Formats: sequence, structure tokens, C-alpha cells
Amino acid sequence: MTLTVPRRVTAAAALAALALGGLTGTTASASPTGGTAVAAPDIPLANVRQHLTDLQAIATANGGNRAHGRTGYKASIDFVKAKLDAAGYTTALQTFTSGGATGYNLIADWPGGDPNQVIMAGSHLDSVTAGPGINDNGSGSAAILETALAVSRAGYQPTKHLRFAWWGAEELGLIGSKHYVNNLPAAERTKVKGYLNFDMIGSPNPGYFVYDDDPTIEQTFKDYYAGLGVPTEIETEGDGRSDHAPFKNVGIPVGGLFSGADYVKTAAQAQKWGGTSGQSFDRCYHASCDTTANINDTALDRNADAVAYAIWNLSGATTPPTGTVFENTADVSVPDNGVAVTSSVTVTGIAGNAPSALKVGVDIVHTWRGDLIVDLIAPDGSVYNLANRTGGSADNIQETFTVNASTEVANGVWKLRAQDKASSDTGYINGFKLTFP
Ligand code: TRP
Ligand code: ZN
Ligand code: CA
Repeated sequence: MTLTVPRRVTAAAALAALALGGLTGTTASASPTGGTAVAAPDIPLANVRQHLTDLQAIATANGGNRAHGRTGYKASIDFVKAKLDAAGYTTALQTFTSGGATGYNLIADWPGGDPNQVIMAGSHLDSVTAGPGINDNGSGSAAILETALAVSRAGYQPTKHLRFAWWGAEELGLIGSKHYVNNLPAAERTKVKGYLNFDMIGSPNPGYFVYDDDPTIEQTFKDYYAGLGVPTEIETEGDGRSDHAPFKNVGIPVGGLFSGADYVKTAAQAQKWGGTSGQSFDRCYHASCDTTANINDTALDRNADAVAYAIWNLSGATTPPTGTVFENTADVSVPDNGVAVTSSVTVTGIAGNAPSALKVGVDIVHTWRGDLIVDLIAPDGSVYNLANRTGGSADNIQETFTVNASTEVANGVWKLRAQDKASSDTGYINGFKLTFP
């Protein structure tokens, strides 16, 4: 098994070294590759269904719709936002104006992951004025909401950064998603490595359509469906008719799923997918009958699971291969009888918690090790003491400590802290290494 080791200086390590008068070593942080992919969870259909019931109740209480500029839209946004806030997301409401009314996009970021590699999933949350919009697009909205909540429940720590979005005013011409993309600085656009769109994924007479856009995203969805033994077709019911279009137009890789709108299911399609040929995939498309009764549970369940499958597989968390090493070899001088100093390594791409036998390699060059207090500091600030002025007048602390770090989330910035507590002898941190067994 080969590890590719991208070399980059961790900001914290560079700062620590600079503060002490110069960077003399090199800093490497390894991202593990070749580990076992973390399996996506099954998304409970009942939870997705409950979100649809709640969105239906919102429409019913607000004149029968959840359209842009109507009270039912804002209530829908507030409903989704409250769930995400409670689950630990960083949420932001983005406002815009369309047709004289204020519109809202909701953007929810899951803390962590590489900020330079963002995987996004989005769905429009507005309905047309004619009805409650439960298939179009409560279905996509509820599926990405439940996937976001599943990320939180799993304590999922992907390599890439995850962002979820609920768009306003799609039905008026992709207004909300265009607004978001137009206001995303060029430097931020290039960080978005994939945008996944979910618009109408529980159609009552369903087809299983995959967008034919970015090949990796498309293949990910096809793999999921191949695993179920369900055939798919390429989405052809109007390319660019949903919120992926603004992303695609600026060169962001896009993909998505669709279960059909007002096109008619052919005999061949009914043959392979069941349902009724000669009838629309969604006879209630943009109509008052697009209620909770206008959903095929099998399609909704499969597509919600496909959302999670794609999010997990495209965001790249792996359990580390044995012996994954994260190391910082930048020298950090330890001032004589002075302040504590630290050397940092950034652990990325490791699912879940740190191991119960985390190997902490300490290399401190010093002329009197009995002067030193040495601690390992976990990303959340928890302190594990490694040496407390032991060893008397002997030189150096060069040994590997085993730490039970199983209550700590693995990903994040780990620090080795050293402080010299007596005068005359001095030294430096020569290296700090974490090995995942
Ligand atoms: N809201 C979309 C629209 O009215 C629904 C739709 C139709 C769609 N065809 C599509 C969504 C193709 C995704 C892909 O245009
Ligand atoms: Zn739609
Ligand atoms: Ca000293």
C-alpha cells in the first residue's frame, strides 16, 4: 500500500515556529489514502416522510402553498434552519429580492473538512403558488435535510467540507441559486468540487434518472443504483431546468437525481420500473394535488439513500490504513525557564475518534530533560501529560508514548506542548509525530 503525502506547512506550526525566530525544519501533514471507505448510513424513510408532513402542514397553514414571497416560504426556511442549528450546523440566511418580494436561501455548513474542497448538495425549497409542492420540491428538500441530520448523528468527519443549501424562488427562474453563485467570489467557486442537485425525487409514477454531467458524480449515483439492481436512465426532461444550472455555467462539476415531472412514462419504462405507462411521472406537477399523497415511498426512500451514498462517497472519508503517520519536523525552540511552546500536526481524513493506542512520537533535544513538562493536546484542547520533569539530568526526550485518545475526534489540529521550568539548560522540539495504529 502506498501513501501519497501532500506536503504543506500547517499554519499553526508555521506560526509557532515564526514566533520563535524562524522556521528551520519542514512540516508535512499526510492525508491517508487507500483506507477503507466509510459506509454511508441508511436514511430512514420515516424521517424523510415526517419532514414532508411538516412541510405540508406549513403549506396548509399558509394558504396552501410555500411559494416565493408568501408566508409559507419563510415558514419552510425557518423549519429547516431550526433542525440544522440544533444538529450543529453553521447556518446562514442569504436574502435577495425578486418580483418585489424578499427571497431566502439557506446555507448550512458542517464544521470541519478541507475548506479548499467543498462538496455541496442543494434543493429548492419553494413551491409554485398553485399547491404545497411536496414532490416539487419537498422531496429533495427533505432528503438533503435528513442526510444533513444523518451526518450529524454519525459525527461524520469527512476529508472534504460539506455544505447543504435550500434555494428560494427556483420556480421563478432559478433566482435563488443564481443569486448565490453570482455572489460567490471566484476564489470560493473554485473550492466547490461538486454540486449535487435534488429536485423532484419522489414522483408518484417514478422513473430513475441520473443527470448526465460530471462523470464522477454520475458514476457515483449509477454505482448506488447498480447495487440495488435498479436500472437508471439519463435525465432528459429539460437540461438546465433546475438549480444545478448556475453552478454548471461557471464550471463547477454538477450532478443529480430526478424521478420525472410531466413527461409520460413509456411502456419500456413501465416494464423496467413498474408504474403506469402512458401517464406522467408526476400528474400533479405544479398543481394543487402535489401533496403528501403525491409521493412514491419506494422512490423517495431509494433516492434519499442515494443522496447519503453520494455525499459519503464524494467527501472521501476513509478509515486510515495501518500505520498512517502525521508528522511535523519543524524545529521549535523551547526557551529556558520560559513560556510553553507547541508544535502542531493537522490530522485529516480519518473517520470518527482517535485510537485507544495512539502513538505519540516525541523528539525533544535538550541538555536537561528534568526541566521539561511535555503534553499532548487534542483538537478540542484536552491535555494528556507525557512527561512531568522526569529523568533528571539526562539529555533529550526521544521516545514514543502510547495515549488512549479514544474519546477524542481524530481530525483536527493536535499539538505537542513543551515547557522548560528551570534555568540554565535549554533545547528545542525536533519533531512531533502521530501514528494511527
Ligand atoms: N422544477 C423543475 C422545473 O419545473 C422540475 C424539472 C423539470 C426538473 N425537469 C427537470 C428538475 C429536470 C431537474 C431536472 O423545471
Ligand atoms: Zn422543482
Ligand atoms: Ca532550563
